[in-house]
Amino acid sequence: MGEERPESRRNSSVSNPRTSQEVTRVLSFTSGKGGVGKTHSVTNVAIALTNLGQSVLVLDADLGLANVDVLMGLQPKGTLNDVLKGNAPLDDILLNGPGGITIIPAASGVEELQALRPDEKMFLLEEIERVAHRFDYLLIDTPAGIGSDVMYFNSAAAEVVCIINGEPTSLTDTYALIKVLSTTYGEKRFSVVVNNVGSEREATTAFAKLSRAVDRFLQVDVRYLGWVPADETVRECIMQQKPVSLEFPSSPSARALAAVARRIDDETPQRKVKGGMQFFFRQLLEMNSYGEEANC
Ligand SMILES: Nc1ncnc2c1ncn2[C@@H]1O[C@H](COP(=O)(O)OP(=O)(O)OP(=O)(O)O)[C@@H](O)[C@H]1O
Ligand SMILES: [Mg+2]
Repeated sequence: MGEERPESRRNSSVSNPRTSQEVTRVLSFTSGKGGVGKTHSVTNVAIALTNLGQSVLVLDADLGLANVDVLMGLQPKGTLNDVLKGNAPLDDILLNGPGGITIIPAASGVEELQALRPDEKMFLLEEIERVAHRFDYLLIDTPAGIGSDVMYFNSAAAEVVCIINGEPTSLTDTYALIKVLSTTYGEKRFSVVVNNVGSEREATTAFAKLSRAVDRFLQVDVRYLGWVPADETVRECIMQQKPVSLEFPSSPSARALAAVARRIDDETPQRKVKGGMQFFFRQLLEMNSYGEEANC
């Protein structure tokens, strides 16, 4: 691999034997419906993973409405747009975030990825992957919905984490997202975090509804990764642009997201990601070009 990993990884290798494996785990955090807590979850899971001794890169993939940097009160030095225009290498726009995480900021208002040529999309993934190889984890905060940018980033990730809340629209929109990702893009395994609910019972009920529909109509595996309670400190921290895991580490939501991070870190990765993002994306491009040919 050539490049050295950041400090946290080297320091952690004694206490955490899992870090001896030379792979970067790539997880996307996604949702059918907007505003359910993806950015809140991804940033705090990232910080919790660094607390476990892992090095974590967070990609803010919401190109239209960047918000990881805003949520953390950071000022980007440059954006993915600068990388695409060839004005800056990706390394130059990386941000040191709170809690030792590193962030690739998106560009607010940048045109949809859809508008990019396939070679530009591939270049972007190559750059992201080159940098991601130095980290134990790449967590991707995707936009909501089933648009093409969402599919691009979800199919580049080896593991898809769906964030839902208890609302019926969140469940139906997530079902639609899983359906498209499984039938069109071949994703077969999904994890679910139920966020912003009043009780564990509410969370397991929401998960059970989604899981029943998925089991009945789709051939995929959805598993429950955990739940995060509705917590007043979250709104407070978002207003102050500070992550709850650092401001209030013993708050219910910080503890719940730390438990989610532990569960992620304890499990064996689904797919090895060496050469992974580009590989999955290349498959996606091939599938799309077959589709275009078929439509001709
Ligand atoms: N566990 C929680 N407890 C209380 N409020 C929460 C919780 N999670 C999220 N929220 C509220 O929901 C809002 C949206 O959260 P967040 O920005 O993380 O959602 P998102 O899915 O990233 O949204 P978007 O789709 O717009 O990117 C937050 O500003 C916060 O007020
Ligand atoms: Mg968001």
